Amino acid sequence: MEVLFKVIRQQQNSSPVVQTYLLEAEPGNTILDCLNRIKWEQDGTLAFRKNCRNTICGSCGMRINGRSALACKENIGSELARLQQISSPKTQSNTIPEITVAPLGNMPVIKDLVVDMSSFWNNLEAVAPYVSTAARQVPEREFLQTPLERSLLDQTGNCIMCGACYSECNAREVNSDFVGPHALAKAYRMVADSRDRETENRLENYNEGTKGVWGCTRCFYCDSVCPMEVAPLEQITKIKQEILDRKQASDGRSIRHRKVLIDLVKEGGWIDERQFGLQVVGNYFRDLKGLLSLAPLGLRMLVRGKFPLSFEPSQGTQQVRSLIESIQKIES
Ligand code: SF4
Ligand code: SF4
Ligand code: FES
Repeated sequence: MEVLFKVIRQQQNSSPVVQTYLLEAEPGNTILDCLNRIKWEQDGTLAFRKNCRNTICGSCGMRINGRSALACKENIGSELARLQQISSPKTQSNTIPEITVAPLGNMPVIKDLVVDMSSFWNNLEAVAPYVSTAARQVPEREFLQTPLERSLLDQTGNCIMCGACYSECNAREVNSDFVGPHALAKAYRMVADSRDRETENRLENYNEGTKGVWGCTRCFYCDSVCPMEVAPLEQITKIKQEILDRKQASDGRSIRHRKVLIDLVKEGGWIDERQFGLQVVGNYFRDLKGLLSLAPLGLRMLVRGKFPLSFEPSQGTQQVRSLIESIQKIES
């Protein structure tokens, strides 16, 4: 079958251009196979990264039809089937199928599909992704782990540092302090490692401002694109839980946000937004600056008749409460 490849090409500091290549391909050919053939048979100037060709090295991350993925994992057949699923019947036609390939997002382009991953590696470094040296004072011969302790590292250990999650991360796009999903997945791997002795310091570090776990907007993109099922958002949530277990609501706005939310939902079945603002931003009337920052919004809502003067608990409060209590019981 004929497939039209649209490759978004770019030189450093210049605007991207779309270049098309027509290729005879089989449904089982991977996107990387096709790019190799384009490079070898049609255009030797096309730049992209590759190495293992087998979903191991993480080199060939790129955006394929709009989502970040590994070029050696996706193939023509699966891509076209995916496109068919997401496009409306009106846009499906009998013309030559097209596959668009672009560089990863959130990182500057060096050339064509090759991006500068410096920020990706620097952010990984920022979470101290090594088992603490204190734990390396070898007791006898080696540090033993039970199979259960080791199994806690399996999922995050599968990360091949491909950058797909980082490329799609909404938080990273707007907040250059945020270290990104790959780094926080690795951070959880360190927290979960029975040999590491730095858990408390690590949790303090990952709790700081919006560079760590509280910078995540929970958009779920990292989980949905990760080719290795590392589920970074899931790991971020586990770190948050470790932090919440150790902290009080007064220890910071992010902590308060989570604790107050649960308390209010438990109390009334849904959130009383008035209480929420006062308790989270106003820190239970202790934070005058925070309270004053709410005043303009509160006044505007009052003027427009949108400020709720009373709060009605939801009809399902009892059920919601017992659900939360059951989960809290399991967690404790
Ligand atoms: S869930 Fe969080 S870490 Fe993952 S992509 Fe979204 S904002 Fe980034
Ligand atoms: S978490 Fe998944 S998507 Fe992110 S770098 Fe690791 S393997 Fe790639
Ligand atoms: S070439 Fe190694 S993961 Fe694709």
